[in-house]
Amino acid sequence: MRIQDKVCLITGGASGIGEATARLFAKEGGKIAVVDIDVKGGNRVVDELVGQGYPAIFIEADVADELPAAIAVDAVVKHFGRIDVLFNNAGVSAVGDVVDCDPGDWDRVMRVNLRGVYLLSHLVVPVMRQQGGGIIINMSSTIAVIGLKSRAAYATSKGAVLGLTRAMAADHSQENIRVAAVLPGTVYTPFVEGYLKKHHAGHYQEAVDNLKKRQLNNELMTPEDVAYSVLFLASDEARFALGTALIVDGGVSTAKVF
Ligand SMILES: NC(=O)c1ccc[n+]([C@@H]2O[C@H](COP(=O)([O-])OP(=O)(O)OC[C@H]3O[C@@H](n4cnc5c(N)ncnc54)[C@H](O)[C@@H]3O)[C@@H](O)[C@H]2O)c1
Repeated sequence: MRIQDKVCLITGGASGIGEATARLFAKEGGKIAVVDIDVKGGNRVVDELVGQGYPAIFIEADVADELPAAIAVDAVVKHFGRIDVLFNNAGVSAVGDVVDCDPGDWDRVMRVNLRGVYLLSHLVVPVMRQQGGGIIINMSSTIAVIGLKSRAAYATSKGAVLGLTRAMAADHSQENIRVAAVLPGTVYTPFVEGYLKKHHAGHYQEAVDNLKKRQLNNELMTPEDVAYSVLFLASDEARFALGTALIVDGGVSTAKVF
């Protein structure tokens, strides 16, 4: 039990990496609050956890919308009494370079990926301060440290999340609030599946194989692979991971096999 009794607020916990993290955190003793716009998915994950005897709640909220986000944070504190771990994971993507990416898509990506991380942190840091500390893990991406074609808005948002993580670490470490970022490479989740089906419909398998080839081990990462890294950051084992950018990407950002 690596996070026994820690209250964990997971945004975007209704799917993919957030869902896998909710399950793993529950198994490791965490009390789970899933915050997501996807009511069906959120209830599915939480009902399953509760059915297995784990403490878990679902709260519907858009992480970038002030009032619903504030209500969600209050609801978690009311239900569990505190928030020990905030996993700012909810995110969306858009494809395109600066020309193809229209202003609407740009704003949508920045709103969820960056404003959402800022807003939840803005609301949760005071809770953590009052209780004497906590841990915030922000979802960045390998794309924050390498260039990847046709992802102008997404790359910018994830680079900014990394910058925000380091700023927050500088601001809050001395209040016993530990802040770190996780930077996954390509993970096979509904997020990636949806992208491949939309943009590589005629040659889906070839596109999956190409993604595998980018990995040093020729395998696609699973949501669980990322969840274990997040678990490490959420555990007391990571007490010196202050402002850390934990890259888990199958080697994509560190080496190439030509
Ligand atoms: N899948 C990858 O390859 C990959 C790689 C690096 C980083 N990431 C990041 O990991 C995070 C999770 O991605 P995933 O692949 O699990 O995606 P996913 O689409 O499976 O899950 C994302 C979740 O976020 C929720 N969400 C979206 N907008 C929201 C909002 N405004 N408020 C609340 N919830 C909202 C969705 O409903 C969904 O449940 C994202 O931030 C993504 O950018 C993903």
